[in-house]
Amino acid sequence: MNSILDFQNYKNKKKPISVITCYDHWSARIISETSIDAVLVGDSVSMVMHGFDSTVNADLQMMQSHVAAVRRGLNNKLIIGDMPFLAHRRGMRELMKSVDMLIKAGAHAVKIEGANGQLKAIKHVAESGVPVMGHLGLTPQSINQLGGYKVQGKTSDKAEALIKDAKSLEDAGCFAIVLELVPAELAKSITEELTIPTIGIGAGKYTSGQVLVLQDMLGMNKEFKPKFLRTFMDGYDLIKSALNSYDDNVKSSAFPNDKESF
Ligand code: KIV
Repeated sequence: MNSILDFQNYKNKKKPISVITCYDHWSARIISETSIDAVLVGDSVSMVMHGFDSTVNADLQMMQSHVAAVRRGLNNKLIIGDMPFLAHRRGMRELMKSVDMLIKAGAHAVKIEGANGQLKAIKHVAESGVPVMGHLGLTPQSINQLGGYKVQGKTSDKAEALIKDAKSLEDAGCFAIVLELVPAELAKSITEELTIPTIGIGAGKYTSGQVLVLQDMLGMNKEFKPKFLRTFMDGYDLIKSALNSYDDNVKSSAFPNDKESF
């Protein structure tokens, strides 16, 4: 997949879309050789790669540098760059400067969290020729307002509000919407109401596609075990064991051997 048109084609053909986060050059090179459809340089980079407690610590320079590193490793997939905390709340001029920086760094599209108060900005970016991905449900940049990483849209009022927001994002020109931590049946209703595809994380099986954080699905964080996460390898222990093996080999003088020497 290398354009947003494929996102729509996949939904039309009911073909699930696979998206993975990626923040760096070496994993971008591996992903470029897989059949994964698209890559999100998410602001989760601030937590996963920089050790912050939330995504509010991601800023434009951080996002720009990670988008550029990913783009240098991957040329065959759609790259979506996350607009960091408040970057789209500082007026149209600042917004367009930020979008320009992410696109010039190598993103093909940007993701903007939320709907309320964002619609004018999203419409302006989309009308400027930059594809915009929306993000509803648990919007991590609002974590201090939401009061924690909780499932959203659980009451009928909240569910209706989310459906309304999703429609307004589609009307504003989004090419797809991430649905994070929402009940599966609500994600199903939103997906059916919209023409554009939905990409779920903790949103059940009825969305048009799925996104996971690369390091989470590789099992790199032993403490992070939310219900929605499936780990596809035990990366933490595998890497730890390789490092200990290297250390043993150095300390026992087994590495380097004659074949590894000049
Ligand atoms: O920043 C991110 O990784 C995200 C995904 C969880 C959708 O926004």
